[in-house]
Amino acid sequence: MPGLEGLPVLVIGATRGIGLAVAQELLRRGARVGITGRDPDRVRSLAGTLGVWGEALDVRDREAVPQVVGRFQEEVGLYGLVYNAGVSPVFTRAERIGLEVWDEVLEVNLTGAFLAAKAFAGLLEGQGSLVFVGSILSLRGGARLAAYTAAKAGLWGLARALALDWADRGIRVNLVAPGWTETEMTQGLREHPHLGQKILGGIPLARMARPEEVARMVAFLLEPENSYLTGGVYAVDGGVSAS
Ligand SMILES: NC(=O)c1ccc[n+]([C@@H]2O[C@H](COP(=O)([O-])OP(=O)(O)OC[C@H]3O[C@@H](n4cnc5c(N)ncnc54)[C@H](OP(=O)(O)O)[C@@H]3O)[C@@H](O)[C@H]2O)c1
Repeated sequence: MPGLEGLPVLVIGATRGIGLAVAQELLRRGARVGITGRDPDRVRSLAGTLGVWGEALDVRDREAVPQVVGRFQEEVGLYGLVYNAGVSPVFTRAERIGLEVWDEVLEVNLTGAFLAAKAFAGLLEGQGSLVFVGSILSLRGGARLAAYTAAKAGLWGLARALALDWADRGIRVNLVAPGWTETEMTQGLREHPHLGQKILGGIPLARMARPEEVARMVAFLLEPENSYLTGGVYAVDGGVSAS
């Protein structure tokens, strides 16, 4: 069957930005979509508007992550999982990053992905596809972003390790590495008088990505037709990683 017609895919962190664009793209391709986000009212209202399954989840709650994956599997089924939740709360030199911020960034960007992936593989019957939303900082250093860079590099390591562990079960694992993307996460930097221009100057295509452009790559990697793709990293970065 072409596309994602009828296949159940859960998107963790889907109430805005790239995650919301992923949920919308998957719907366009015929998937049966589930979304999560921290705010129960927002998740309920958005799930109603989109006509999808939805449940509130803070990925720092280590018990709740497998429970939510389990409820999606029971109520909708399971073929794909997209781990998109991520935070980047500070933009500062490494010596100014406290352990509290370090722990939060690692917990949301990396540990949550491990827990979700483990639950997914534990419940999956048959073949499946797992996509992590990493960053170009999964592949290169990010100044003033030590915790975020460490977490996203870890996510790329995790994707490769899981691809190897689960290849014999028909579970494909890939990482999408967005460059600068127009979302709430980058709003402050985009509006900054000097940094905004400086960032654009470092992007060969001279603009940030639109969330839909990242979403299309995520959907492509989920599609069962692309069955030879596993353990890979796919940059959607306007040429940044080529420079
Ligand atoms: N924007 C960029 O330039 C860029 C570049 C490279 C990679 N990325 C990555 O792309 C992903 C999406 O980012 P975005 O730009 O769309 O950012 P965003 O608009 O800030 O959205 C972040 C997403 O993560 C979720 N999230 C944050 N903390 C969470 C928690 N504790 N528990 C559950 N969900 C949580 C948010 O859900 P809530 O609605 O509950 O807050 C939201 O869905 C992230 O992994 C980010 O690191 C972004």
